Amino acid sequence: MQIEHTRYTERFGSVRINEVQKVLELDSGNAKELASYKRVAVKMIEEEMVRQLEQKMVIVIPTKDEKLKLLEGVISGIPHECLIFVVSNSQRKRVDRFRMEADTLKQYCHFTLREAYIIHQKDETLAKALSEADYTSILDKNGLVKDGKAEGMLAAILLAMMMGKEYIGFIDADNFAPGAVWEYVKCYAAGFNMARSPYSMVRILWRYKPKIAHGIHFRKWGRVSEITNRCMNSLISEKTGFETDIIKTSNAGEHAMSLKLAELLTYASRFAVEPQELVSIFESFGGVLPMSDKKAAEHGVEVFQIETRNPHIHEEKGEEHLKSMLLPGLATIYHSPLCERETKDKVISELLHHGAIKEGEEPARPVLSPTPRTANIEKFRRIMGNYLDSCSALEKK
Ligand code: GDD
Ligand code: MG
Repeated sequence: MQIEHTRYTERFGSVRINEVQKVLELDSGNAKELASYKRVAVKMIEEEMVRQLEQKMVIVIPTKDEKLKLLEGVISGIPHECLIFVVSNSQRKRVDRFRMEADTLKQYCHFTLREAYIIHQKDETLAKALSEADYTSILDKNGLVKDGKAEGMLAAILLAMMMGKEYIGFIDADNFAPGAVWEYVKCYAAGFNMARSPYSMVRILWRYKPKIAHGIHFRKWGRVSEITNRCMNSLISEKTGFETDIIKTSNAGEHAMSLKLAELLTYASRFAVEPQELVSIFESFGGVLPMSDKKAAEHGVEVFQIETRNPHIHEEKGEEHLKSMLLPGLATIYHSPLCERETKDKVISELLHHGAIKEGEEPARPVLSPTPRTANIEKFRRIMGNYLDSCSALEKK
C-alpha cells in the first residue's frame, strides 16, 4: 500500500494530530525501494508489515437487526489474520435474528477456517462478568448491558483486553461494500505502522459518501460531521490560540486504537462515543488539565486520519436520525471542562439552528463510562475466559 506521508502535525500538549493522509495505491506490488525523492512525500507500507499488524488486531462489528447479507459481506471483507468479534444487539424474541447471525457466521467460518466470535449484547454471562469486574456503568437496571453501539464497543474492548490483543478496530455492519471494509483494515494497519507511540488511534475519512436519489451523487461531507468537526476544532483553537481545521473525523464510526490507548479513555453512550474519544484524549493529554497517565504523556498520543479510496455506501437512516446524532456528539464538546464561551455559543447556535434544542435550553450532559483500565480484568476473565469458547463461530476440534 502507498499512502501520503504525514505532511503536517498539529500538537496539543502531548497529543499529535496528523493532517488527513490519502491512500495513493491500494496494492503497491512487490516490495521495492522508493526513489529517495519520493520517500519524502510517500510512505510505502509493505504487505508483510500489514499482515503482522493484522495478527494483533481484533475487528469488532457492532450490529443490530441489520440484513444478514450485509453482515456477511462485511465479514468477508475483513483480512483473514484479524480476529473478528461480532457484538450483536439484534432481536431474539419474535424472530431470533441473533441465532440467524450466529448460524451465518458459523457456516462462513467453517468454510473459510477463520476465527470469529459472536456474542449477544444482552448475554447474561457477559453482564455477570462485567459486574464482577466492577465495570457496571454500561449495565441497565436489569443488570444487562444497555442498548447502544457504544455499550457494545465497550464490552468488546474489555474482551480484547482479556485476550491480550494489541489493537482494536470497529467497523459497522451496515456497509454495502466488502472492498471498503477491507480497505478500512488496511488503513488501520497503515496508521499503526506509522505510529511512533504505542498510544495511537486511526480514524477513517471517507473519500465520498454517495447519496442515491435521482442518480448517484458523490457527496464528501455529511452534515453532522461538518458541524461536529467545526465545534471540535473550535475547542482546540480556543486553548492553543491558533485557529485550526485539523480535525476532519469527529464522528468516524470506522476507527481503531491501540488497546493501550483504548484503556485510558472515557466513553460516551450511543452515538456520542466517537467525538467523546477525541474530547477524552484532549482532556487527558492536551496539557491543560493534569495528564491522566504519565507513561502515555511521555510517549505522546497520536491520532491519524486516513482517507480511503473506496466510497462509503451504507444504509441511510433519515433526517430524525441525523438530529439524534448531532445533539449527543456536540454535548460531549459543550460539557468538556476544556470548552470555553465561544465554543459553547457555537454549539448552542448549531443546535438551535437544527431544531435539536429550544431557546434557553442546554444539551444534556453526556453519560460517561469510566476508563476500561478501572475494570478488574482478572475477575472478568474468571467468568468470561472459558465461556468465550462457546461464542466461537469456528468449531474448535
Ligand atoms: N451491538 C450493537 N448494539 N450494535 C448496534 C446498536 C446496539 O445497540 N445500535 C446500532 N448498532 C450497530 C448498527 O447495526 C450498525 O452496524 C452500527 O452499529 C452503526 O449504527 P447505525 O444506526 O447504522 O449508525 P449510523 O450509520 O447512523 O452512524 C454511524 O456513522 C456515524 C458517523 O457517520 C455510526 O458508526 C456512528 O457511531 C458514527 O458516528
Ligand atoms: Mg449506519
